[in-house]
Amino acid sequence: MTTVTTDGARSPDVAHKGGVAFGFCVSHAPQIFTQPKEEDPAELARMHEGYRTVARRASEQKVDALIIVALDHLHNHFLNLVPQFTLFTGNPVVAQFNRRRVELKGSPDLANSLMDGLLERGFDPAFSQNEVLDHSFLVPLHFMVEEGLDAPVLPIVVNGYVPPQPSIRRCHDLGRAIASWAETTGITVGIVSTGGMSHFPGTHRFDEPDVEADHRVLGWLERGDTEKLVSMSAAELDAIGMVELRTWAIALGARGDHVQVERHSYWDSGHCGYAVIEF
Ligand SMILES: [Fe+2]
Repeated sequence: MTTVTTDGARSPDVAHKGGVAFGFCVSHAPQIFTQPKEEDPAELARMHEGYRTVARRASEQKVDALIIVALDHLHNHFLNLVPQFTLFTGNPVVAQFNRRRVELKGSPDLANSLMDGLLERGFDPAFSQNEVLDHSFLVPLHFMVEEGLDAPVLPIVVNGYVPPQPSIRRCHDLGRAIASWAETTGITVGIVSTGGMSHFPGTHRFDEPDVEADHRVLGWLERGDTEKLVSMSAAELDAIGMVELRTWAIALGARGDHVQVERHSYWDSGHCGYAVIEF
C-alpha cells in the first residue's frame, strides 16, 4: 500500500512519517444494513465485505485514526443551522440508525489538531462534541466494529442535501488540506467516504437511478481522471443523483490529485448504485 503526498507523488512508506495511508469510498444505503428480501443477499454481502476491508486496512496500516466522511440526512442540521463541513471533535463517536447504535473511540486531541490544520489551510469547518451521527455513518461503522476496528474515528459531516451545498471541487480541496495536515504533523490516517452512487431518495425518480452515469463516473476514477468528477456543477450532480459524491471527492483529494481507484464491487440495486472502491 502506498501513500500520496500533497504533490500527488506516491510514497511507499509514509506509514511511519504521517500521511493518508489508504482511501475508500463506499455506499451507505439503509437497505445494506436492513437487508430486505428484495435485495440480492450476495451483493449485500459484497458490500459488507467492503466495509470489513476498511477495518482490516486500518489495522494493517496501524493508522493513528480513521477519518470517516459522510452526511447528515436532515437529522441534526436543518434550516436553523447548516454548516457545509462539520468536524466531530468529541468522544465517544456515536452513530445510530433505528435501534442499532454504535459507540467508537473518538480522539479529541487528533480531531482538534485536524481542526487547527484546516483553519491554517483556509477552511473554517464547524465542530461539534455532541452529535449522534446518522445512517451514513452507522451502516459502514456497524460492519467495521464487527470486524474489530480499533483505531479512533474522526467523523466529518458534509452538507449534501441542503442547497446551496459546497462545490465538489471545494470538497476535493478539503481532502488536499487533510493530506497536507497529516504529512505536516506526522499523523497517519486512513480515510473512508460514504455516499451514492446514483439515487434519488424521496422523489418520483426513486426507482430510476442513473446507472449509465454510475459506470461513467467509475470509469473516470479507474482511469485516474478525478478532474472530470470534481469539475461537475451542483446542478449536474443533482441531475444524475450524485449529490452525495461530495464526500467521495474529499477522500479522493486526500489521496492525491490524480488518484487511480480499484473497484471492489458495484451493483445496481434498482434504487441506488452500490459501490466500494479503494485507492
Ligand atoms: Fe445517503
